[in-house]
Amino acid sequence: MALHKTRIASFIGVALLALTGACTAASAGNDAHPWMNPRLTPDQRAALALKAMTQDEKFQLIRTEFGDTENGHVMSPGMLGSAGYQPALARLGLPAVQESDAGLGVAKPHKLGATALPSGLATAASFDPAIAHAGGAMIGNEAHHRGFNVMLAGGVDLVRDPRNGRNFEYAGEDPLLAGVMAGNAIAGIQSQHVVSTIKHYALNDLETDRTTLSANIDKAAARESDLLAFEIAIAAGQPGSVMCSYNRLNAVYACENDWLLNDVLKRDWHYPGYVMSDWGAVHSAAKSALAGLDQESAGETFDKEVYFDKPLRAAVASGEVPQSRIDDMARRILRSLFAAGAIDHPAVQSPIDFDADRKVAQRAEEAGAVLLRNQDALLPLSAAQSVAVIGGHADKGVLTGGGSSAVQSPQGNAVPGLAPTDWPGPRIYQPSAPLAAIRQRAHGAVSYASGDDIAAAAKLAAQSKVAVVFVEQWAAESFDAPHLALPGNQDALVEAVAKANPHTIVVLENNGPVAMPWLDRVGAVLEAWYPGAGGGEAIARLLYGEVDPAGRLPVTWPRDESQLPRPVIPGAGLAAIGLAPQGQPAQDVDYDIEGADVGYRWYQRKHLEPLFPFGYGLTYTHFDYSGFAPHAANGKLTASFTVTNRGARAGVDVPQLYVTLPGSGEVRRLAGWCRVDLKPGQSAHLTVTADPRLLADFDGKSQHWQQPAGDYQLQLGHSATSFQGDGKATLAAASWAADASPAGVPQPCTASGAQ
Ligand code: BGC
Repeated sequence: MALHKTRIASFIGVALLALTGACTAASAGNDAHPWMNPRLTPDQRAALALKAMTQDEKFQLIRTEFGDTENGHVMSPGMLGSAGYQPALARLGLPAVQESDAGLGVAKPHKLGATALPSGLATAASFDPAIAHAGGAMIGNEAHHRGFNVMLAGGVDLVRDPRNGRNFEYAGEDPLLAGVMAGNAIAGIQSQHVVSTIKHYALNDLETDRTTLSANIDKAAARESDLLAFEIAIAAGQPGSVMCSYNRLNAVYACENDWLLNDVLKRDWHYPGYVMSDWGAVHSAAKSALAGLDQESAGETFDKEVYFDKPLRAAVASGEVPQSRIDDMARRILRSLFAAGAIDHPAVQSPIDFDADRKVAQRAEEAGAVLLRNQDALLPLSAAQSVAVIGGHADKGVLTGGGSSAVQSPQGNAVPGLAPTDWPGPRIYQPSAPLAAIRQRAHGAVSYASGDDIAAAAKLAAQSKVAVVFVEQWAAESFDAPHLALPGNQDALVEAVAKANPHTIVVLENNGPVAMPWLDRVGAVLEAWYPGAGGGEAIARLLYGEVDPAGRLPVTWPRDESQLPRPVIPGAGLAAIGLAPQGQPAQDVDYDIEGADVGYRWYQRKHLEPLFPFGYGLTYTHFDYSGFAPHAANGKLTASFTVTNRGARAGVDVPQLYVTLPGSGEVRRLAGWCRVDLKPGQSAHLTVTADPRLLADFDGKSQHWQQPAGDYQLQLGHSATSFQGDGKATLAAASWAADASPAGVPQPCTASGAQ
């Protein structure tokens, strides 16, 4: 948003009275409120309610107000102290709309706290849709118990740059993985009668100058990359709303971008829900309405004016915007509220089982932490070893990313007062201390050094059998990192500790890929992302082998900035945390450099060897693939194979199916994967079906997806660059119109027996 969000709401007030009071008629249809009949479809119910609405009621529905006290906004009764609010339409029995951020938990009111999931990247790294669904259901349930019926959750912008400050909210660089994982998280949220909001539509892939920059990209390439992630996630999760983003796309603001909203989303994808704006992303009335925006968010606080009130009423009066468009906006909003069950099952404040919810977050972290390095089987640790725990505030808790999605624990911030304390802060730590969790497991001595005094930390490390160094990189909405280096003196700290003790393990709490100049000199590295509410416990369980590291990288890890499509982000940085912005922000970002070849595809195209490839992750055992058999039948590509656990410990493997289309200049694409848990010596026979949406290119001229005839190369990967299984299968040509994509939720993996 253009303005800063600075203060925490202090008023929760009588909000729930307004909410519940409006909903007394929600359980059964009657003559006065026939739309309350749950046996009717959401479309029928929306049509009936719309028919009964006055113009003023429709205009009430198509805008929300900021629900908090920041930026001088005054809260009115009914507001919960959160992102957005719209009063109940009591006459119609419709509840107030109460909106809360976001995808990692219920972000507000801060004071009450909620359970924080680990980063979206951690969930994506699990490659496990069930983990994403469970996390979504957990936060949806907390939202419902806080009185919210709309969550601004479902971030699926592709990671095109590891320095983007919001990567931790997203699901990685691959459209299939990101789409499937975000879609399942959305479905989980909506299973709790809360509307979920996929965002930020679209190409909001950098934060620097996000409210003005234009993301420039060929439209076909956009459909094959960022938009494909949205398309897959929408098919899988059916979110009730879509949030259009701050940025411009090919020079046109996303929230008034006819192509993006009307053509792609509503016409081609048949999207039946509503489009809400990001906070401060609306710049016009008639243009936005005609382009497909259905609801203006918090315009009175963040836009130049409330466009979807007087200016839009005037545009209707003058005939510039037809009445049918206003009706369509209202109908879409109503439909989504009915479809999610937000009206039949009104959100009411009630107690939350935080212990159970923390376990859900902990399981997500355990499934999504990625073991990047493990020399001489340094991990897992044994209880007998003495341990020096160093840095990262590991004595207090684990780090959380900043901005509107930041979730504070009900126990408060474990390390309060660190800069920045104001937007995009505060910088929040979850009170789940790795040190305490390590102490519970170690029989040998466990000591702690903050790392502020590097010599003292090295001395402590020298006195212990192993040293575990926690390093951190705080990132947040509204800025990008200017480079990949860890902040402060952390590189020097790791170097000194590793020199003092060859058995040094580094645990990363970070937004994503960072430079690790000391990599060759440490024994092990565990990527813990932002570890969430149960993060300390999860990290200790992983270090001690109570759970096997199972995560695989959902992003490519570059060696340095020179490997990136845009080595410099002009203007990136945040002075408040010592990252002085360098140069003037660009008004245009050229995404045609990589086009649809995001992440691992860019590395293959440019013959670059990353530090760690997409899909990579070690375990405490190892897996072998055999009998790879690609197959084409009925226009479908499948591959069968056997995966065997060849090590001495149980573990989880994620065999990945990559497909290269026939024709020149093609690079591999992830087309499916499995996730399998195997005991030592155990095998499973698996079949992966390539998702058809990954087997075609978009042709801008014909506006068709074209699946070329010929030999498709199929490769079975341990990652995007390491294969054990390679073959070909032939498909005939096929093509389908932009509005006729194969729908449905992919079923990428089936098992046909384990031995
Ligand atoms: C963010 C959105 C968020 C909204 C409401 C904006 O600044 O970009 O992701 O949902 O604020 O807090």
